[in-house]
Amino acid sequence: MEVKTSLLDNMIGVGDMVLLEPLSEDSFIANLRNRFDHNEIYTYIGSVVISMNPYRSLPIFTPEKVEEYRNRNFYELSPHIYALADEAYRSLRDQDKDQCILITGESGAGKTEASKLVMSYVAAVCGKGQEVNKVKEQLLQSNPVLEAFGNAKTVRNDNSSRFGKYMDIEFDFKGDPLGGVISNYLLEKSRVVKQPRGERNFHIFYQLLSGASDDTLKKLKLDRDFSKYNYLSLDSAAVNGLDDAANFRTVRNAMQIVGFMEDEVQSVLELVAAVLKLGNIEFKPESRCNGNDESRIRDKNDLKEMCELLGTEQTVLERAFSYRTVEAKQEKVCTTLNVAQAYYARDALAKNLYSRLFSWLVTRINESIKAAPKSRHKVMGVLDIYGFEIFEENSFEQFIINYCNEKLQQIFIELTLREEQEEYVREGIEWTNIEYFNNAIICDLIENHQNGILAMLDEECLRPGTVTDETFLDKLNTICAEHLHFESRLSKSSKFLTDHSLPHNCFRIQHYAGKVLYRAEGFVDKNNDLLYRDLSQAMYKANHSLMKQLFPEGNPAKVNLKRPPTAGFQFRHSVGTLMRNLQTKNPNYIRCIKPNDKKASHIFTDSLVCHQVRYLGLMENVRVRRAGYAFRQAYEPCLERYKMLCKRTWPHWRGPAREGVEVLMADLTVPAEEFSFGRSKVFIRNPRTLFFLEERRRQCLQDLATLIQKIYRGWKCRSHFLLLKKSQIVVAAWYRRYAQQNKYKRIKSATTVVQSYTRGWQARKLLRELKYQKRCEEAVTTISAYWHGTQARMELRRLKQEARNIHAVTVIWAYWQGTKARRELRQLKEEARNKHAVSVIWAGWQGTKARRELRRLKEEARRKHAVAVIWAYWKGLKVRREYRKFFRANAGKKIYNFTIQRIMQKYFLGLKSTMPSMSPIDKSWPVKPYLFLDGVHSELRRIFHLWRCKKYRSEFTEEKKAVFEEKLEASEIFKDKKALYASSVSQPFMGDYLEISKNPKYQKLNSAMDEKVLLADVVNKINRANGKGTARIFLLTKNSVVLADQKTGQVKASVPLPDLTSVSVSTQSDGFFALKLKEGSASAIKGDFLLSSEHLIEIITKLHRTGATAADSEQLNIDISDEFLVQFKHDKVCVKFIQGAPKNGNSVSCKRKNNRLLEVSVPSTV
Ligand SMILES: Nc1ncnc2c1ncn2[C@@H]1O[C@H](COP(=O)(O)OP(=O)(O)OP(=O)(O)O)[C@@H](O)[C@H]1O
Ligand SMILES: [Mg+2]
Repeated sequence: MEVKTSLLDNMIGVGDMVLLEPLSEDSFIANLRNRFDHNEIYTYIGSVVISMNPYRSLPIFTPEKVEEYRNRNFYELSPHIYALADEAYRSLRDQDKDQCILITGESGAGKTEASKLVMSYVAAVCGKGQEVNKVKEQLLQSNPVLEAFGNAKTVRNDNSSRFGKYMDIEFDFKGDPLGGVISNYLLEKSRVVKQPRGERNFHIFYQLLSGASDDTLKKLKLDRDFSKYNYLSLDSAAVNGLDDAANFRTVRNAMQIVGFMEDEVQSVLELVAAVLKLGNIEFKPESRCNGNDESRIRDKNDLKEMCELLGTEQTVLERAFSYRTVEAKQEKVCTTLNVAQAYYARDALAKNLYSRLFSWLVTRINESIKAAPKSRHKVMGVLDIYGFEIFEENSFEQFIINYCNEKLQQIFIELTLREEQEEYVREGIEWTNIEYFNNAIICDLIENHQNGILAMLDEECLRPGTVTDETFLDKLNTICAEHLHFESRLSKSSKFLTDHSLPHNCFRIQHYAGKVLYRAEGFVDKNNDLLYRDLSQAMYKANHSLMKQLFPEGNPAKVNLKRPPTAGFQFRHSVGTLMRNLQTKNPNYIRCIKPNDKKASHIFTDSLVCHQVRYLGLMENVRVRRAGYAFRQAYEPCLERYKMLCKRTWPHWRGPAREGVEVLMADLTVPAEEFSFGRSKVFIRNPRTLFFLEERRRQCLQDLATLIQKIYRGWKCRSHFLLLKKSQIVVAAWYRRYAQQNKYKRIKSATTVVQSYTRGWQARKLLRELKYQKRCEEAVTTISAYWHGTQARMELRRLKQEARNIHAVTVIWAYWQGTKARRELRQLKEEARNKHAVSVIWAGWQGTKARRELRRLKEEARRKHAVAVIWAYWKGLKVRREYRKFFRANAGKKIYNFTIQRIMQKYFLGLKSTMPSMSPIDKSWPVKPYLFLDGVHSELRRIFHLWRCKKYRSEFTEEKKAVFEEKLEASEIFKDKKALYASSVSQPFMGDYLEISKNPKYQKLNSAMDEKVLLADVVNKINRANGKGTARIFLLTKNSVVLADQKTGQVKASVPLPDLTSVSVSTQSDGFFALKLKEGSASAIKGDFLLSSEHLIEIITKLHRTGATAADSEQLNIDISDEFLVQFKHDKVCVKFIQGAPKNGNSVSCKRKNNRLLEVSVPSTV
């Protein structure tokens, strides 16, 4: 069962101020303090969330917390900003109501942090997906960019937003974010040129100087040292806990995620740098002849660099700082600027440049995050605007900010009450009007079109003539004097004439949140917000990519003589739009409170909190809320929570929840005026009633706990008793069994004893009888033994005598027997000798007899065979004679022929299927089937082989034929004669190894040949002096052999084939060959050639073939021997081939041994 929790569970103080009892400012603050001390920074006033700034990170913003608050009702868990965000998101998603989240509070109270928490919560709970995540990331990353350019350190807040921000997040029907629109309000641009003591300029300046790389700074013409820039205050350049360099990286990364292009980022940084440079421009007076001082730029270096950054002409800007052109209708008047005016112009330019850059950034972010236009989007707006401010000196900015807060307060009151009223109407509850302070009157004082302060300020600014802050104050004093919330010393109202807290140059407004004294000085200037036209035109002319967008009024083609709208006007207009926008949405309020002025955790300053509680109107808020009904709850959860207070509803109420609550209230006798029944909710007027219910519930819970305890204890004791009872039965059973067992054992042993005595007695009796019997038997036995002994001894004596007699007889007998045996043995031996002689004779006779028998049997067998043959012949004859009449005379021959034919047919058909392949080298042939076909079988094999060879040859092309012919010829010349031949068989004869006709290297040599080159290869020409080889190109044409230099291709020798008589080669595996020349021929002058080649077999074969075909040559002799003579000039040298030891990888070596001998050693492995 799901456990329903409530805001009221484990509550520290009171979680909802509406329930505070008694309600007073003190109890309100004490409750806030109590909760703050227990780290409860959020407290509700109904649906409004009060947020205390903890100034430290609390573990309440974890993903687990997000999950805890996700899809839970607002009052189900302890107060949290996530509960508000969840409520807003769910009613946007499920009820299709546009939402706005209004975050208010003074500077440093935590508005910006709260807005980020809301956005991050919504991002965490809404849909997921690649596209959605990208949108979320862009929306979240817009914050760091805007904070860098729009936030600054102030005395109140290290990260104070110096602009107002309203962001509309757009969702689709499923609640997935689609994009957003950001509106910005009045950036505090005066900060660009001047910062109060202890405060800083906008973060981006410090971030850029600390975090940018040296290279970037160089490009921007900047120096890392803050002190070099007049616009940067130094007294708090470094802020505790702020890492400007790291933040710069975060900002750049965020810009990239949001979608800024690299060149856009560069342009933005250039403008930031330009603002810094602008601050360094200083002026000096230069006297003119008319006596006026004219300003001149003191050091033009900064101006020059700034102009380079902006792409403007230096002279144009220089002139704009010295002169001012005023155009009125057709006239143009040019006046000079003095030093003060030049400084004013410079600062105005810096402020405008920066604030316009900021607005451009917002527009650019909007471009990136805008949702695709669709029919309808659901919208959630988050407003994070500067809070109500009361300073020692309040100026135009505070006036504007407080006006904005006044408007927000108004909308707060209006919407809160309206919402409250609507709920009562919806629920059908009677509604009585509630009195509250409506600040519409103050808003009217400020914004009224006719006589509002802003309207009068505008009127003053636009009025011709001298306009000063004093004239403006005078005007206020006359027009607003009667207003209840306007106070001024010089107003007609006499009551302030003596009020010394009100200086003459000030006016005071009683805002809803307190009285604020405004100094009139600067109002007119700030409202005018003037930038001299010369400057805006100079900016427009700049060559920088953003300038034309930032200063459109500088376009000379569109000179607008109308004054631009004043700052006050613009602000009033945008606040009006904002209010109209907010009114269309369901508001959710977060009211931020700052616990102390020290930015420190754990410190709660009562006076400061009290001040904020007052001006935020929180007490009023509670009162308004309580004026109707302090507490309301739907019937189901109400009944669920309090049903134990009534017997009829406890533990289960079977009817409708409303009736259950009615019964409950009646039973509790709660006075009828204390509550009302709405359509779906019960409304409780006074918190006391709720606390009464809670107290009763608490007591009842205690009673219930006691009851549960009682029942549990009863159950426990009973269980224990039953257990004991059960155990007792078991124990008794075991005991009885044990006692019976013992009794049985005793009886059993007694029986055994009696039995044993009886058995003993019987046994002894038997034993006595047996013993007697035994003694009798022994006596008989002894007597008989004695008798038998006597008998036996007598018999023994007799037998011994007899044996002695028998022994004597035996000995005599043995002697006689021995004599007889020996005699007989002699006789037997004699007899055996005779028998052996007889058996030898018998064996010889038997052999003769057996041979004779064998001969006889053989003769008989021959005869039997002859008889069988004769019988068979005779039988055949008889059969033929008997069957002759049935056959024709030549039938036998026919049958024979037929049989033979059948056999042949079968043979040939069998041969057809077992035929070997068509390869000429296939040696297989089917086995012969019949003996009589032996000759035919081998003849067929021969014919088949010849036929398939013929077939094979018939497929030859002419070239292939020539190749085979060459191979055949090589075989005829070298087979079994030269060892090298075997390795050449598998190598194809390629002829032109050098590709002489294609290779450009040999082009010249090729063209020198008259005939087609039949063979081209590189050979070694053996030097006759030392036997070393030199590479030569060997060419064979139809008519000659040519030797040429391998590198140059120059012909060294050309021998016509007829001059070649023979070629000598060895029988071994070397590639040496000698070309012998015809004696007396022109070629033979230098002698024969001794060459060596890898393609020896091919060369010689080709030479042999070419020699044979050359018309006028004789047959070329091929001499194959291991020793031959070679003619070298006049000497004949013997070339001798010997078999060397096998050497790995070593080739043939040739050495000159002496004048007559050249020895070639051929390794046996080659
Ligand atoms: N919920 C929080 N948890 C922790 N620290 C917080 C929280 N809210 C605010 N702070 C701290 O307070 C500082 C000021 O908060 P924040 O900038 O939100 O104030 P602000 O109301 O926006 O002020 P301003 O009006 O000047 O912009 C933060 O920088 C942060 O250090
Ligand atoms: Mg802020």
